[in-house]
Amino acid sequence: MSENKLIPFDCRDGFIWLDGQFVDWKDAKIHVLTHGLHYGSCVYEGQRAYSGKVFKLREHTERLYRSAAIMDFKIPFSIAEIEAATKELLLKNGLVDGYVRPVVWRGPEQMSTSARNSKIHMAIACWHWGKYFDSSASKGIKLTIADWRRPPPSSSPFEAKSSGHYMIATLSKHQAENNGFHDALMLDWRGQVAEATSANIFFTQGNTLHTPIPDCFLNGITRQTIIALAQSKGYDVVERVILPEELDKFEECFLTGTAAEITPVRSINNYEFTPDKICQDMLLSYQSLTQNMENKND
Ligand SMILES: Cc1ncc(COP(=O)(O)O)c(C=O)c1O
Repeated sequence: MSENKLIPFDCRDGFIWLDGQFVDWKDAKIHVLTHGLHYGSCVYEGQRAYSGKVFKLREHTERLYRSAAIMDFKIPFSIAEIEAATKELLLKNGLVDGYVRPVVWRGPEQMSTSARNSKIHMAIACWHWGKYFDSSASKGIKLTIADWRRPPPSSSPFEAKSSGHYMIATLSKHQAENNGFHDALMLDWRGQVAEATSANIFFTQGNTLHTPIPDCFLNGITRQTIIALAQSKGYDVVERVILPEELDKFEECFLTGTAAEITPVRSINNYEFTPDKICQDMLLSYQSLTQNMENKND
């Protein structure tokens, strides 16, 4: 498959795995009265394949299971079946480096808040996806602070990667893009620095990395990978409360996420950062990990 940003996602060629079968890409359809579409009863994963292997496939599949359990779903496939389907899907689509999107949702059997009798469906798609940010981001991206805030844990099951959480992410991202920024930094309900719309955030001060405590937003798999990588390379990593007023104390800043990988940040509103040695070190170390893949699940 070749990347063409102009081809809508429902008009591409290839195969999608849908409820246990490989179907033609254009036939992977659902009914308009699908519970997941109306009520947000949907969880998903974002994975990347490097040289034909999905990085941290087991961690992503386990998170999908956890997300589903939090949302009161029972995924009707085993982890082994999902992983086997993912590998076969990459081969069938001839995709070596790209993005993989498993998604699980409630079907159309019941259309009300209560959805106990709705069937659980699952699909996996994959496509070529180069850099998450466009080429204007090569010297670091520009962030603005979003008006929307990450809600408290008592208001949303933040550990689930559920589609409902992305409503405020899309609103924040659109607002940022409309104002000439690449993305938005979201604060949490207390006004503390949380994360970008679909990636976690790190700052540096000397040889120390600072990152917010993930107590109301996703503790990304890439975030955890970077913490372990940084510690193994002798950096100190501090997970702590970070207030927006502190941003002028930091030297470097970068985002981490499966899609965003390691993305240096140039500015957050008027706060400027200079992507330098640590950004470069983390970027190259992450690249080498994903390419060598000691963590491959064969
Ligand atoms: C809201 C949000 N935060 C953080 C992340 C980073 O998570 P991961 O590193 O597991 O991809 C993502 C991406 O999935 C995300 O959507």
